[in-house]
Amino acid sequence: MLKAEENEILTRVGPGTLMGELLRRYWTPACLSAEIPAPGSPPARVRLLGENLVAFRDTRGRVGLVQENCPHRGASLYFGRNEEALLRCVYHGWAFDVDGKCVDMPSEPAPFCEKVRMKSYPVHESGGIVWTYMGPRETMTPFRDFGTDGHDADEFIAAKQLTTCNWVQAMEGNLDTSGPIPGNSVARRSSPSPRSPRRSPASGTGSSRACTPWTTTSRCPPKPGGTATSAASRTS
Ligand code: FES
Repeated sequence: MLKAEENEILTRVGPGTLMGELLRRYWTPACLSAEIPAPGSPPARVRLLGENLVAFRDTRGRVGLVQENCPHRGASLYFGRNEEALLRCVYHGWAFDVDGKCVDMPSEPAPFCEKVRMKSYPVHESGGIVWTYMGPRETMTPFRDFGTDGHDADEFIAAKQLTTCNWVQAMEGNLDTSGPIPGNSVARRSSPSPRSPRRSPASGTGSSRACTPWTTTSRCPPKPGGTATSAASRTS
């Protein structure tokens, strides 16, 4: 069991936190390509590692991932106009390219516009997913091709699922070898412990309960008119 302080370290992933800095050293899925399907389509909101971002595909087809709030007065660029290879803030019209550079500022002279830049992250689109690297540029590694680079859109399906929990805690739970999940059940039953050799129920010398005690549980009440049900039999 982790202590509360250790869970604090594990679950805080914003900029400057320990886990946040660690996870920012890896390419991370940001959104589906289908959420920004065509050049000039509306931007998509992305909440990633505690940051509010906006993804957009500009009118030239380039993908950008930038901070959601405009650096001028904080208006949401989710409502921005995706036009002329720029994302234009609807409040005062400042416009930004996919690299976060301000390239048009209707109310100010050109020199000031060139000084403004907002947070943006590099992206790589592969297999219907927009991946991003949120760590320092100097530590950025090349994108690792999972076998999806270069495939046509009709050769893969990408989907996403929102799980409201910390990613590392969920991963740790999935790796828990004592969990009564079907995958673990199969692995355990096909790999008997040397100290507890498996005996076949058919042999009459014992039952699977002898070597896989976690597959049955006394917590399962007997069925009406029947015998107690094992967890394994219910999940297999
Ligand atoms: S708030 Fe975006 S241009 Fe002013």
